[in-house]
Amino acid sequence: MRKISSSPVALFILVLISPLSSVTALLQLPISPSNQAEKLIRELNLFPKETINIVDDRSFSNGPKIVEKAFKFPHLIDADGVSLQDLGHHAGYYQIQHSHAAKMFYFFFESRNSKDDPVVVWLTGGPGCSSEMALFYENGPFSIANNLSLVWKEYGWDKVSNILFVDQPIGTGFSYSTNRHDIRHNEKDISNDLYDFLQAFFKEHTELAKNDFYITGESYAGHYIPAFAARVHQGNKAKEGIHVNLKGFAIGNGLTDPGIQYAAYADYALDVGIITQSAHDRINKILPLCKSAIKLCGTDGTISCMAAYLVCNTIFNSILARVGDMNYYDIRKKCEGSLCYDFSKLEKFLNQKSVRDVLGVGDIDFVSCSPTVYDALLMDWMRNLEVGIPTLLEDGVKLLVYAGEYDLICNWLGNSRWVHAMEWSGQKEFVASSEVTFEVDGSEAGLLKSHGPLSFLKVHDAGHMVPMDQPKAALEMLKRWMQGSLSESTSSVNSENLVSSISDEICVEAPFAGHGRCSSDRWMKGDAALIFYR
Ligand SMILES: *[C@@H]1O[C@H](CO)[C@@H](O)[C@H](O)[C@H]1NC(C)=O
Repeated sequence: MRKISSSPVALFILVLISPLSSVTALLQLPISPSNQAEKLIRELNLFPKETINIVDDRSFSNGPKIVEKAFKFPHLIDADGVSLQDLGHHAGYYQIQHSHAAKMFYFFFESRNSKDDPVVVWLTGGPGCSSEMALFYENGPFSIANNLSLVWKEYGWDKVSNILFVDQPIGTGFSYSTNRHDIRHNEKDISNDLYDFLQAFFKEHTELAKNDFYITGESYAGHYIPAFAARVHQGNKAKEGIHVNLKGFAIGNGLTDPGIQYAAYADYALDVGIITQSAHDRINKILPLCKSAIKLCGTDGTISCMAAYLVCNTIFNSILARVGDMNYYDIRKKCEGSLCYDFSKLEKFLNQKSVRDVLGVGDIDFVSCSPTVYDALLMDWMRNLEVGIPTLLEDGVKLLVYAGEYDLICNWLGNSRWVHAMEWSGQKEFVASSEVTFEVDGSEAGLLKSHGPLSFLKVHDAGHMVPMDQPKAALEMLKRWMQGSLSESTSSVNSENLVSSISDEICVEAPFAGHGRCSSDRWMKGDAALIFYR
């Protein structure tokens, strides 16, 4: 969930014609993605003291791989007299196997329902933002009140799962290393760390290893999640370590297939009426160059990926330049003051001594979002993570891609397009399947399309952070998806009804011109069939 920087097209050409000098060219250019990263962190009203948790030497024992403790947060409302055992809240450090000296921090909340519930891992994006952002503002067990008490959430995902919030990549949140060489630059290293952690976790909690296992997350985790799922699947196939009962992975407003998703920015912005047709056409002039740069980057390019990042982000930045102080995580909102959101309580809460003591984090700073981790992954940004997904689908591992409809930065349109364009044995049936309404409490909370292991859900009245904006619908989504009943108890909207209903539909008034539900609720079937109902 990060805003991105732009730079001249000339750079890309320079890189193309002069590959040998390109590295120095990059280093000498007066652009600084770091500044962009810093700006973004400020927009969330976060002020991490450090840019990454690379700390001075401290002892690394050859002791256990995982050190975990049960804890009870201070000022947790309605927890008086509840024992640590009953609460089932744990915080831990995993000493990362393939690292010089890195420790990965995680929260583990046992299900409020049953220990037999699935095990779910949540990963926040950034890259470089702590999963505690989701824990406290989206789908964790509680939220932080103004007086820094913790209030139980009615729709925390721990109501239906044993859930882990992991701080990664190394240097993010409370995770740290004493060695800069542990900073991660690609999904291979990141997914290996997560896999090693998971193995250690199940070794520690053998009773949970038999449970169903799901990977979830948001935004830049659209990169982490498919890579991690593929790594787990590979480990299972090779009978490496403990078998993980991987049932599925879910990506919320993610960045997974940049080639398709960057091409959707201007279309989405036009569709929701925040830019004009002529602005759309002007912005997309760079699209062919962006697309070929992304193609060159592929799945494992290096300098070409950096070039693609710089070229393609001119698209996003050109849109932003035209929409003023609009919140690009939720186009219905303005960035209040200089801030889009106020997540400041997170740092206040986690920096309290009483809290740090129960978590056992010692003197490690909490790095809410790390610009250094962000920068370290600039070459990873434009790589296509869709390529590993078909194998997982063919082997019956479920994928849910969901997206809040008002998010610009990882908008539903781009996500819908890559999901439709993905080639696998069920593609035809998926594309042809009719959309159904996703109903919660008898009202339409979203539009769903699914076939076999693949589901796509567009969530109504939500921006980038779906569990924050629609906590009840998000919990229902997770629960039904894990149970395999996502498309049940919904009413089918066959295409004929849909067509005839369009002309009668009354557009929902939105706070900016030209936007209405009726203009944007169509499924897009690949680039060719873009039809705007405006
Ligand atoms: C803090 O705020 C919460 C939620 O608003 C409230 O329930 C609680 O009583 C407050 N605690 C104190 C000590 O004021």
